[in-house]
Amino acid sequence: MKTIKKIAVFTSGGDSPGMNAAVRAVVRTAINNDLSVVGVRFGYQGMIDDDLVDLHDHSVSNIIQRGGTILKSARSKDFRAREGREKAVENLKKANVDAIVAIGGDGTFRGATELNEEFGIPVIGVPGTIDNDLSGTDETIGYDTAMNTAMDAIDKIRDTADAHDRLFLVEVMGREAGFIALETGIATGAELILLPEAVSRIDDVRESLSEVFRVQRRSSLVIVAEGDETGGAIKLAENLKEDFEKYEMRVSVLGHIQRGGSPTSRDRVLASRLGSAAVQALVDGHTNVMVGVVNNQTKLTPMKNTWAKKKSLNYELLELAKVLS
Ligand code: F6P
Repeated sequence: MKTIKKIAVFTSGGDSPGMNAAVRAVVRTAINNDLSVVGVRFGYQGMIDDDLVDLHDHSVSNIIQRGGTILKSARSKDFRAREGREKAVENLKKANVDAIVAIGGDGTFRGATELNEEFGIPVIGVPGTIDNDLSGTDETIGYDTAMNTAMDAIDKIRDTADAHDRLFLVEVMGREAGFIALETGIATGAELILLPEAVSRIDDVRESLSEVFRVQRRSSLVIVAEGDETGGAIKLAENLKEDFEKYEMRVSVLGHIQRGGSPTSRDRVLASRLGSAAVQALVDGHTNVMVGVVNNQTKLTPMKNTWAKKKSLNYELLELAKVLS
């Protein structure tokens, strides 16, 4: 295998708080190992457009606390075509890049795997997504911050819900995964949590809510994951309107607020560990793997297994939520 002298790092897909801390760790660990680093701006699209910048020690000063990503992010349609990937590789070769560190979620890792399998470029993945839906790591970078942001917002909603004795349907992010919904639901004492991983029939939802109102005639919070089969909080509210006419119902969709903000300490530390472990993995000759932290130990997982093996929710927590609500 060719000795690695220069690596490229990029962030891609939906941004997540802590991506900057990961970029910082990649750059500083690389420099520590006498490697030079370029940053690719706007993910795979930037690779195609030749949007590369040299990164030095000082380039990543004062970013560990910042949300978003200094390297910008994008979802690239062009990269899905072979032609786009060829262009991207041509630009990487022109810049003498020997290996890449890809920070993002499953879409990012699929792209990195293609670069590795089609063109032989060594790649390492760093899990950065608020969804926490990647196998091979207990938590992804940004998940903890997103949960805390959602919890903080929902606590505030609870205050006003309580003041008016209202029923609130709060939608949190997670198109295909209910990790954010489940944990914030428990943390905010929600009366009901609806997730893509558990069947939510509208009749069951009606029944559960009627039961809630039968025992307690006061405010109620329902946390709905964006990808729940009831169709999200707005659609659910339309379907419940008639049955719960006498309770004032309100909907709040938290949306992208969950993606922004300064990362929590836990996310900063996780991102620092993973960014550094990614460079170490390359130096040690690994490729096409994702670095994760499992039971507080860094672990390498074949890239494909991170999305092909669906990460399971902790169903005990779902049961706990039912008991405690
Ligand atoms: O994957 C992160 C995520 O925030 C999902 O929870 C959400 O469904 C999606 O991205 C939204 O993507 P976009 O910002 O492109 O609308």
